Amino acid sequence: MRFVQEPNLNLMLLLVQLVGTDHCSFNSTQKALGIDDFRKIPNGVNGIEERMHLVWDTMVESGQISAIDYVRVTSTECAKLFNIYPRKGAILAGSDADIIIFNPNSSFEISASSHHSRSDTNVYEGIRGKGKVEVTISGGRVVWENDDLKVVPGSGKYVEMPPYNYLFDGIDKAETTYLSSLRAPVKRSRATS
Ligand SMILES: *[C@@H]1O[C@H](CO)[C@@H](O)[C@H](O)[C@H]1NC(C)=O
Ligand SMILES: *[C@@H]1O[C@H](CO)[C@@H](O)[C@H](O)[C@H]1NC(C)=O
Repeated sequence: MRFVQEPNLNLMLLLVQLVGTDHCSFNSTQKALGIDDFRKIPNGVNGIEERMHLVWDTMVESGQISAIDYVRVTSTECAKLFNIYPRKGAILAGSDADIIIFNPNSSFEISASSHHSRSDTNVYEGIRGKGKVEVTISGGRVVWENDDLKVVPGSGKYVEMPPYNYLFDGIDKAETTYLSSLRAPVKRSRATS
């Protein structure tokens, strides 16, 4: 997110640049490792399956951003920052044809009993909202339609992400290499049991 001072209105605008997930799901047995010591709770929650619905409902349906902003924050800007635009993040000849068809008049409900993760818990359990992804096309193939998942194991492809996305334009790349070689000044140690 980026804060921008709006001089004429004397207020701060909050611009959402992009939305992603740090999807890292653990089930109740794994989370229970921390039941007597919170430092042992494996860190992370689910989000990869829920992201598109939650962002639509909380941001577009609520009137905070437009449908076009939704495409930008969930797709175009992510592809640009990871430096894989326009292979990803665009519907163009030569792009990967990863496309969703989203019905804003439909609705969703999140539950561990219906999600596609192997986990027995879902941090968004019970949340309902408007809008639903009805069709997902991955690499030109329909992989989700009529609530039916049609993915083929092993069909995923590694996508290389070159360094120096557009945010580096104008920055001396030698200096960037130097900066990224620096180590954090904090001495880290592992928590032991
Ligand atoms: C959680 O995952 C672990 C590792 O795969 C498994 O041993 C355990 O039975 C799972 N627990 C539940 C409640 O599914
Ligand atoms: C959603 O519903 C509204 C009101 O009934 C209708 O005008 C609109 O065309 C519908 N949109 C879609 C994508 O079905």
